Amino acid sequence: MVEFSSLFSGRIAEMRRSEIRELLKLTQKPEIISFAGGLPSPEAFPIDVVKEITIDVLDEKGSVALQYGTTEGLAPLRKELAKRMNKLGVKCTHENILVTHGCQQALDLISKIFLDAHDLVVCSLPSYLGGIGAFGAFQADFIGIPLESDGMNLDVLEGKLKELRKEGKRLKFIYVLPTFHNPAGVTMPAENRKRMIEILKEYDVLALEDDPYGELRYEGDHIDPLMAYDNEDGHVIYLGTFSKILAPGLRLGWAVAPTEILDSLVTAKQSTDLCTSTFSQYIAYEYLHRGLVNSHIEKIKKMYRSKRNIMLEAMETYFPEEVEWVRPEGGMFTWATAPGVDTKELVIKAIEQKVAYVHGAAFRFDGGGRDSMRLNFSYPTEEEVEEGIKRLGRVLKEEMGTS
Ligand SMILES: Cc1ncc(COP(=O)(O)O)c(C=O)c1O
Repeated sequence: MVEFSSLFSGRIAEMRRSEIRELLKLTQKPEIISFAGGLPSPEAFPIDVVKEITIDVLDEKGSVALQYGTTEGLAPLRKELAKRMNKLGVKCTHENILVTHGCQQALDLISKIFLDAHDLVVCSLPSYLGGIGAFGAFQADFIGIPLESDGMNLDVLEGKLKELRKEGKRLKFIYVLPTFHNPAGVTMPAENRKRMIEILKEYDVLALEDDPYGELRYEGDHIDPLMAYDNEDGHVIYLGTFSKILAPGLRLGWAVAPTEILDSLVTAKQSTDLCTSTFSQYIAYEYLHRGLVNSHIEKIKKMYRSKRNIMLEAMETYFPEEVEWVRPEGGMFTWATAPGVDTKELVIKAIEQKVAYVHGAAFRFDGGGRDSMRLNFSYPTEEEVEEGIKRLGRVLKEEMGTS
């Protein structure tokens, strides 16, 4: 009998399974109200539109839509994406765009082209688990920077970069989620984005901007992506996705990067999957080209804004006074902190009371965040949001000894 474990690479031996995936298995029972996942509402999927487009694509372009495509992605889709990015202030052409199987694949490809074992990556504390997982799979060493209500703490970041420069160490990149952060819900204001770009230039480092939620704003003024402040200087790589504005099942995302980086990403992607699903790309292209995306985004925003409001009001009503939470201006998550509570242990009691969340420490690599939790409001129904927060409030009150 072959002993498989001795055959696995050092990389896979060090890899951790996503704690969220394990937790999600527990929360899939229908009686449990789950704030744990990061899923869009199924009601937000434009099923009829996709059906109509699919039939047209098969009728009119079936022979190419079912064929392999180029590794860079479908040129007309890349052109539509470039147009969209330019409207967001990011100066680019389709030659700066790579279409990927979701933003998650872009995180993997970025890791593949930049990271050798023990290379340094900066992440906010907390950060998106899938990002930490992708960089960790390539054995990155992490440097954590605290996240505040206005995003990554730039004073601490600058101090750290100064220190590294003194020590003659070079960072590979700073992973940043400036808009409607997953998991923390916070947003970096425009002036901080400007300062961040100055820091990137001063220390000659690269930022990797992950932006799945940027178009889902429920209040406040629009802020352009970090990359828009970069004036084509090449200090930012941007990642976008169709998962939250169309459907994650199509597995479509895109990376915007200087052409030199894009060329390496293409090489890396060739050995991963040759090309992104041509069929999905044609559907997404038609969705953009027919001008259907903006009205659909408005519909989703209305739905999620209402759910967010219900969650925030319910927390006000049912949570103990000591608990604090973020009021997210967009996206899919809020982040609550219950001083003195071990949220990893509490989740077991919460699941007994038929409500679930993800504990804060899951989003960190330094063991911190033990008293915090991520709450998703996009997936449950409005009634479930209200009832779930009521249940969670009871669990928290019992744990914290408050009434
Ligand atoms: C911050 C962040 N990055 C990347 C992803 C992965 O997105 P995709 O479905 O495009 O792979 C997600 C998914 O929830 C996310 O929240």
